[in-house]
Amino acid sequence: MQSTAPADRKSPRPGDPDFVFDLQSAEYDRDPYPLLRALRERAPIFWWPESQAWYLTRHADVVAVLGDDATYTADRRHWNHYNAPSEAELAHPVVRLQASNILSLEGREHTRVRKLASMALTRRAVRNLEPLMRDLADELIDAFVERGSCDFVRDFAWSYPVMIVSRLLGIEPNSERERSFRVLADLDGVTFSPMVSREERQRALDQMAIHLEAVRALMEEKRGKPGDDLMTDLIRAEAEGERFESDEIIALILSIIAAGGATTAQSFGLGLIELLRHPEQLALFRDDPSVRLDASHEIARYQMPGRFSARYARHATRLGEHALEPGQMVICSVAAAQRDPALVDDPERFDIRRKPADTSVFGVGRHFCIGAQLARLELATGFAHVLERLRGVRLDGDFDAIPYGGNPAVRGPLGLPLRFEPGRRIRAH
Ligand code: HEM
Repeated sequence: MQSTAPADRKSPRPGDPDFVFDLQSAEYDRDPYPLLRALRERAPIFWWPESQAWYLTRHADVVAVLGDDATYTADRRHWNHYNAPSEAELAHPVVRLQASNILSLEGREHTRVRKLASMALTRRAVRNLEPLMRDLADELIDAFVERGSCDFVRDFAWSYPVMIVSRLLGIEPNSERERSFRVLADLDGVTFSPMVSREERQRALDQMAIHLEAVRALMEEKRGKPGDDLMTDLIRAEAEGERFESDEIIALILSIIAAGGATTAQSFGLGLIELLRHPEQLALFRDDPSVRLDASHEIARYQMPGRFSARYARHATRLGEHALEPGQMVICSVAAAQRDPALVDDPERFDIRRKPADTSVFGVGRHFCIGAQLARLELATGFAHVLERLRGVRLDGDFDAIPYGGNPAVRGPLGLPLRFEPGRRIRAH
């Protein structure tokens, strides 16, 4: 299946009266790009009736909306179809924490939390992480390298990003707390999924509340015995007159798991598929360390895992020829924007030698991704280890047989069976 294939001409196309756009469809999960291109060419500012929202696919429009804080907000409470959580729902400690996600904060409140978050993830901190990233990649690969086969999604992609954050926080390797942290990350995804029933969601929230205690316990421990880790940094920021509440730190950690876990995990899966489809680029990535950081950017550009970034009009405004009412939702497709010919030449070509045209795959303006540096380094380091150690790596099966899916926020492969020459573990059993 080629992303460059034109959209099926037989099915209704944007602008046709019977065109139905479904962001959660199997077709979208597998390959959204023919549809996104058709939208960009035929209806770049598309009124999406089923979602009562505007859907933007041009780079210039996406960047303009995400960067215009005065006209648009990311705070859902401004949405004219907003359903406020009931008091009973808000009484749940996890729902309360999720409600103060950094992505939906605004103004001074956002600036304050963002300062705390970016202080912890500065360039320097990210660079210091490289040895940790290398060790962790080896640890995960050791678990399956002798077998000569693995499911890359299950055995590597979904573990690596969340375990990096876990170790970054100062959680002991292979500890009960590390297991709790992983469960927390998995359950966080469940609570946002529309595929789960009310009861399942409730169960996931209750379980999260239990596992969050491990994070709270770590916080208390670090208060008494500071270390050289992210949790200590977060507590210190709290101590230096910034007055961050314990719950704010926990909410921030949940935001980091939510915003950084699944996106990076899916980038690993989607990225490896493209490298396997383009063996000469896989070899280049493996053999030339100088291309790896830009290559990671190209992977995210070419296969952006995030489905959308939503904004809400603060007041009546105009988008091109269209009049927007206050509170209307505007959905920015960063994925579509990354394949706009106005941004890059020959956008449907995957080319890891490409220099990044801009950084908009990580957002624009106030909510620009605080993990952008970290994500690029994770992808560069993780892929380097996988490709160096899994000699002769190939897909075990057909590209068309890869199952795709995801959650409301991100898409990617659900499994990726690989075969390779069995290798040696680096560490002793
Ligand atoms: C390939 C991987 C990633 C991609 C493509 C990505 C993309 C994005 C985008 C597009 C936004 C802006 C969303 C918006 O404006 O609505 C964003 C925000 C954010 N990202 Fe990432 N991200 C990635 C990895 C990470 C990682 C590894 C972390 C942290 C460990 C992270 C943490 C965040 C946070 C906390 C925000 C919200 C910032 C704010 O609201 O001020 N992301 N990301």
